[in-house]
Amino acid sequence: MLILGVESSCDETAASVTRDGREVLSDIVHSQIPIHERYGGVVPEIASRCHVEQIVSVMERAISDAGIKKEDLDAVAVTHGPGLVGALLVGVSAAKAFAYAIEKPLIAVNHIHGHIAANYIAAPELTPPFVCLVASGGHSHIVLVKDYGQFDVLGATRDDAAGEAFDKAARVLGLGYPGGPKLSRLAEEGNPHAIAFPRPDFGLDFSFSGLKTAVINAVHKMEQNGEAVPRADVAASFQQAAVDVLVRNTMRAAKQTDVKTICLAGGVASNALLRSSLKEAAEKEGFSFFVPPPTLCTDNGAMISCAGYYTYKNKPFGATPDLNAIPSLSGFDSI
Ligand code: KG4
Ligand code: ZN
Repeated sequence: MLILGVESSCDETAASVTRDGREVLSDIVHSQIPIHERYGGVVPEIASRCHVEQIVSVMERAISDAGIKKEDLDAVAVTHGPGLVGALLVGVSAAKAFAYAIEKPLIAVNHIHGHIAANYIAAPELTPPFVCLVASGGHSHIVLVKDYGQFDVLGATRDDAAGEAFDKAARVLGLGYPGGPKLSRLAEEGNPHAIAFPRPDFGLDFSFSGLKTAVINAVHKMEQNGEAVPRADVAASFQQAAVDVLVRNTMRAAKQTDVKTICLAGGVASNALLRSSLKEAAEKEGFSFFVPPPTLCTDNGAMISCAGYYTYKNKPFGATPDLNAIPSLSGFDSI
């Protein structure tokens, strides 16, 4: 099956063609980072307008880069939630119209399923069951993937998502948007043990708001005392605390199941310390470990195309033309 996957849930306009879910024939990502940078974060209305400008050419390029004609496609998959409503609507409307025009099925894809599916693309040998840590800007979940499209949530955040904590810590350090990658670059020059930030323990659940507040308070206190803020040390100590908690809970969860494999997914999965720390912890305990390359961890169309393939296999009738964007779509209803 040749599937065009369309993604527009946040600040990336993306489209990709895959064959049978796992073979990527094209992968086009138009990032809006330069546009949102000056505002210090994603401005939803600007994101929607930018998606409108880009979506058709991104979809056309994905088809031509794949070396196929639009008639060769077997289906069109699109993210319909969770995400920013206006941003999602652009992708949903474009994919819906295109699927109708080429008389092919439309497949509704959950963005979080897409992040998990990025692992199938990166590792052809990977099959469920496995435990996956999904850490992105809006979500932090530990998921037991029982089968393609069958999920049990083992742990979730009680407040901020991991990526949100990275973004907010980066902001107080004056690093701007997007915070995660900038903070992790600064952290390379710092001492991860310089400041003992909290590592709250809620079993398998996460809580990042206390860590975020601790960073903000530490920086403000030093500023008020007229001390120079050791920014690299703050960044490194924050990153170490966040990664320690993500790894600790994921290992705890995996050990409670029968699975032999641990995967990592979502934008925060491009963090080098998280990748290496979870790999080391997993392999030490005898688990196989998989993580997609960073370009497949942040939002892209290939992961949506791949998740669309498995969604369609489970429900081979496609979505109806009244498909809508669902900003708060739950991540883990089985499909
Ligand atoms: O999955 P994603 O691209 O979009 C969402 O679905 O939210 O994730 C974006 C998040 C942002 O919070 C960003 O700061 C974070 O992933 N991120 C990182 C890194 N690269 C992206 N966080 C830590 N270290 C990184 N290298
Ligand atoms: Zn995402």
